[in-house]
Amino acid sequence: MKKLIDLIDQEMTAAFEKAGYEASYGKATLSNRPDLCEYQCNGAMAAAKTYRKAPIMIAQDVTAQLADCSLFDSVEAVKPGFINIRLSGEFLAEYMNGMAEDERLGVEKTDHPRKMILDYGGPNVAKPLHVGHLRSAIIGESLKRMGRYMGHEVIGDVHLGDWGLQMGLIITELQERKPDLVYFQEDYEGDYPQDPPFTISELEEIYPAASARSKEDEEYKARALEATHQLQLGRKGYRALWKHILQVSVTDLKKNYARLNVEFDLWKGESDVQEYIPGMVKNLQDQGLAYEDQGAIVVDVKEETDTKEVPPCMILKSDGAALYTTTDLATIVERMKLYHPDEILYVVDKRQEMHFVQVFRCARKAKMVEENTKLSFLGFGTMNGKDGKPFKTREGGVMRLENLIREINEEMYRKIVDNRSIKEKDARATAEIVGLSAIKYGDLSNQASKDYVFDMDRFTSFEGNTGPYILYTTVRIKSILAKYREEGNRLEGLNILPFAGDSEKALMLEAARFNGVIENAFEEKAPHKICSYIYELANAFNRFYHETRILGEEDPERKRSLIALLILVRDVLETCIDVLGFSAPEKM
Ligand code: ARG
Repeated sequence: MKKLIDLIDQEMTAAFEKAGYEASYGKATLSNRPDLCEYQCNGAMAAAKTYRKAPIMIAQDVTAQLADCSLFDSVEAVKPGFINIRLSGEFLAEYMNGMAEDERLGVEKTDHPRKMILDYGGPNVAKPLHVGHLRSAIIGESLKRMGRYMGHEVIGDVHLGDWGLQMGLIITELQERKPDLVYFQEDYEGDYPQDPPFTISELEEIYPAASARSKEDEEYKARALEATHQLQLGRKGYRALWKHILQVSVTDLKKNYARLNVEFDLWKGESDVQEYIPGMVKNLQDQGLAYEDQGAIVVDVKEETDTKEVPPCMILKSDGAALYTTTDLATIVERMKLYHPDEILYVVDKRQEMHFVQVFRCARKAKMVEENTKLSFLGFGTMNGKDGKPFKTREGGVMRLENLIREINEEMYRKIVDNRSIKEKDARATAEIVGLSAIKYGDLSNQASKDYVFDMDRFTSFEGNTGPYILYTTVRIKSILAKYREEGNRLEGLNILPFAGDSEKALMLEAARFNGVIENAFEEKAPHKICSYIYELANAFNRFYHETRILGEEDPERKRSLIALLILVRDVLETCIDVLGFSAPEKM
């Protein structure tokens, strides 16, 4: 469906033209005096100079053309030359019915579908997921869903950190603890055991221990580096261990992401692109882009217009080891070869921005991507605690994601059972659904690039700009609809009539914005715009709800119309929250 504002523009530009003025002056905008009108057009003011005429006269010429336009209730020229537009009840009702009849609620799919790889999540194998990975997962998942809703092909790749020093550290620490394992015998010829020599909790304890020790013990660190190198060179026992680490860790990661309602199409990682590295390096050298600097291989990526220093991109360390940059470049090579995307979008902590500037420039210089392949970086800010510092546990440690989720769910549970009799099992299940909305909405409602404060009390509140408030509103609508059905009525085939009051009209106007909001939010990669939209929609609904008798309405035709409007609002809300990556329960 055409956007409401476009339909209005169309009328207005035609009217300017018919009145003898340039059509482009007819652009309408949302009114900044909603008490007077819903839309306004200031084109007559701008046209005044061109036509050397008083703006009010131009405005009057234009409004005269619109005397019997069915879209508007009134179109008024007011001094000094504004045009105030009020929509007609019939037109708005028609627009509502159009949305209700369309399974996409009036949102048209893009006519330029693109293939996009979305690189998000980015957890590191063998390290527990912590809140720093939360934002990438939440924002990335939402962008994926937004893109798909708009009709693009979006492939989500978790891009595991599974190849760095952490692997060498774990191997080294394991050897300290269990030196007799066959994986450490260099001359071992047999098959390696099927089952891993550790559990996930052991693994999670091993990494921090190893990491801490490597910071104090030079010799230990050297061994870990050597182990990493040996692993990369393909030492059999280490590879076998690495596979165990990967498997145990990925099983656990999948469980955690499932709890967040986050799903990846690809579970590839840094290790998957090792085979591309030699060819990529050679290509850089053959093109004369890579050169040796103190034993390392680097590529210059600075540009004349740079305002801050962009250091050369390091491709290989002096010992020949691959770096973060190396795997990211090789991943681009692989992605182009296997998927040939139109765009690769990275959703990563904004502190990594320089890394991506270097990688993107190097990839372009070396023509690893085509000229029109977009490489984009969405850098997100830090999730802070109430003290304004990166979020920590009460003890000051790194908060593990599953603990954070547990705490939120506990808090939600307390709020749900408060003053009510509800079965324990039901309350727990609801707390999980609502808890997820609290975390995700709390995150997504902020502009991604900004830092924000994780505020448990605020995020879990049923009032204000929160996930639980949105769900509460949705559930309120659902329960009215359920009662209506229990009265023996059908929810299908209902028709929306022109509004009868201001709050109803305001609700319709909010609902009508849906297609424009979704389209724009995806274009700007801004899930927070969907959040502010549903907050306003929920507010408009609640105002309407408090002023309107719905189930008690006596005129059956009007009652059916109110119900039809509720269905539409519910569908818009549910589509939006689905795109944001959470859902509403039936009751709460
Ligand atoms: N594993 C990285 C980290 O924890 C994030 C990976 C982001 N994606 C990428 N292609 N570099 O910082």
